[in-house]
Amino acid sequence: MGVEAGTPVTPPGTDIEQNMEGRGVRREILSVRGLSKRFGTLQVLRDISFTVNSGEVVVILGRSGSGKSTLLRCINFLEPVDAGEIWIAGEKIDPRRSNLQRLRQGIGFVFQHFNLFPHLTALGNVTLALRVVKRISKDEAQEIGMKALSQVGLAAKASSYPEELSGGQQQRVAIARALAMNPDLMLFDEPTSALDPELIGEVLNVMESLAGRGMTMIVVTHEMGFAQRVADRALFMHEGRIVEEAAPAELFSNPRTEEARSFIGSIL
Ligand SMILES: Nc1ncnc2c1ncn2[C@@H]1O[C@H](COP(=O)(O)OP(=O)(O)OP(=O)(O)O)[C@@H](O)[C@H]1O
Ligand SMILES: [Mg+2]
Repeated sequence: MGVEAGTPVTPPGTDIEQNMEGRGVRREILSVRGLSKRFGTLQVLRDISFTVNSGEVVVILGRSGSGKSTLLRCINFLEPVDAGEIWIAGEKIDPRRSNLQRLRQGIGFVFQHFNLFPHLTALGNVTLALRVVKRISKDEAQEIGMKALSQVGLAAKASSYPEELSGGQQQRVAIARALAMNPDLMLFDEPTSALDPELIGEVLNVMESLAGRGMTMIVVTHEMGFAQRVADRALFMHEGRIVEEAAPAELFSNPRTEEARSFIGSIL
């Protein structure tokens, strides 16, 4: 009652949640097939294959230099690959022909160092791409931006500049910035490793709540508690290969390869 049939319940422009599906619904978001990548003579990725379905959270672990960041950058088409295929939503992407800017709009990227613009407020950072890339009107961008900031618990800091925010708050703004673009997939590259220990929890909590609402996420992190609580699967990389793929608890308690065993021993 009160709501006519066909009337949207949420007002237009506030549809950030539309890509957050219930965890029961599964469709393929990303498929990486036989991906290989060299930098000069250094083979950084070797025949990487895996699939991520909607609503899944996949954690990637591995030693420094094992290729984790490069893999995320290839998935976002920031690095060209030498061999292999990347499929997004069931479509094989040819980077020479596809509209990469449009594809990247569907993939949020959160970096270790938040990469906020110091001369823009939190809201200014969150709305910039909405204005410039998506060409959304100022009012609508601000509405979407405020909703994204609310989702990371920072609506009250909308007019603060990055230097007025803690590292954890800055990273939450960076998450809101990615979220505001309404991505189908979010990539996180060690989002808490630059933070003081007491600030890590607030960022992990925000990520956990996104996961709980069904956001599809690939997270490079060594936060084992987060991985076990939140991730459906963990991929362990060694020298450019995925050498183990398992439920996080399984990987941590019962690693099958010597490489994973010694790595997990080192982060415990
Ligand atoms: N642009 C580049 N040019 C040349 N070599 C690169 C480049 N980017 C990365 N590499 C090399 O590729 C390898 C993999 O790097 P990558 O950053 O993907 O590792 P990582 O697993 O993310 O490591 P970390 O845990 O330290 O972040 C490293 O040996 C690195 O030195
Ligand atoms: Mg890295």
